Amino acid sequence: MKKSIFLLLFPVCAALSATAQDTTGRAAFLAAQDSIRKLSVADHQRMLDQLGIRTLRSGPSGNPSAPNAANADESKATTYTSLPDPLVLKNGKKVTSARMWWTQRRPEIVEDFDREVYGRTPANLPKVTWEVASESREMNGDFPVITKKLIGHVDNSTYPALKVDIEMTLSTPANATKPVPVMMSYGFRFPPGFRLPPPPASASGKPEPTWQQQLLAKGWGYVVLYPTSYQADNGAGLTQGIIGLVNKGRPRKPDDWGTLKAWAWGAGRALDYLETDRAVDAKKVGIEGLSRYGKAAAVTMAYEPRIAIGFIGSSGEGGVKIHRRTFGEQVENVASAAEYHWMAGNFIKFAGPLTPNDLPVDAHELVALCAPRPVFISVGSPTVEGTWVDAKGMFLGGVHAGPVYRLLGKKDLGTTEFPPMETALVDGDVAFRQHAGGHTTGPNWPTFLAFADRYFK
Ligand code: GCU
Repeated sequence: MKKSIFLLLFPVCAALSATAQDTTGRAAFLAAQDSIRKLSVADHQRMLDQLGIRTLRSGPSGNPSAPNAANADESKATTYTSLPDPLVLKNGKKVTSARMWWTQRRPEIVEDFDREVYGRTPANLPKVTWEVASESREMNGDFPVITKKLIGHVDNSTYPALKVDIEMTLSTPANATKPVPVMMSYGFRFPPGFRLPPPPASASGKPEPTWQQQLLAKGWGYVVLYPTSYQADNGAGLTQGIIGLVNKGRPRKPDDWGTLKAWAWGAGRALDYLETDRAVDAKKVGIEGLSRYGKAAAVTMAYEPRIAIGFIGSSGEGGVKIHRRTFGEQVENVASAAEYHWMAGNFIKFAGPLTPNDLPVDAHELVALCAPRPVFISVGSPTVEGTWVDAKGMFLGGVHAGPVYRLLGKKDLGTTEFPPMETALVDGDVAFRQHAGGHTTGPNWPTFLAFADRYFK
């Protein structure tokens, strides 16, 4: 398998290689995967029926040598002629003041994203009660930390057949004398027995500090939030988890929230807990995620105003990559049975009968919803990570959010020209850096932390 593809399919490959360690486990794992796939296809079909859609266009392949490989040629990427203007109201009037943005234009954009793209987060969601399941003092490298395992129990009294818990860990420096800033990271959950490869060694032969150790070195803390603890990462799970609980186990309606919105809801509840924990400075909580969790991080930042900063890793299609660009992953891929669950059912329409050009919003407006708060857009190298994520498409998501940042008195990316690899664009409140590594935020942590310093000092 080509490296780039492996990296993109990392969660799945990781699971496969882990279970390969014992064959019985592997057989059971594959059977479970197959059953999830079938149930997802059935739910996807049910949504197509609700939408009255007979046929869908299929997306290109992520395998660069496939005959239908996704486009990786920049000269063929910009087939669209216009992007929705974040500063023009639906009635054609120009948005000329911050007040107009907050009271008129922003609500219009939110409504479009809610109805057509990510779905509507229900009103009156059940209460979450946090339990500190354990608390321990431990060492992370050279740093003493206090780690709490936390469980957010979701009130399921309206539908006791489903039990939903939010799982996360919080680690803060043990020697802190005051509440500390915290980065919340969406964490992948690996199957039992799976171990990540050790971090690369530095010139001195010592392993490079992990992102957690980089935070601890600054005196900051970190949360790892496990989104699949409360909403599964597949269509089969849409009748379970928090989405299923609210729908009492019934399938979604076309404008119901998708998994990304559900994950973001959990991050909001995690923040509710952090506001009650005296180790944490809850005004300085950021969100980080990679890939599908990069999409989730962007959606979280856009919809949860208490999140102070965003580190959006390789979010690609459905994240901050311009949907209309014909480069890398396409709307059609996300509308397929493998990924539609991230979005509102309505999003499928844009893979037939409609097209991405018919979307009332595009990804730059998701970044604009984060304004005026700082956002750092991260991507890896096209040769190592691959071109599926569309580095330039994400860069443009940042560029075209610029007018909104400027209207709110903040600084945009500072350029509209795609920078050379490893050039940090960090002088504005929208930042961008393409690192030389693969499908990870890893190599961008030092640059992100220097950027975050400006806000969290
Ligand atoms: C697939 C998917 C992407 C996603 C990625 C990931 O490649 O097409 O949209 O971001 O998986 O989460 O690793």
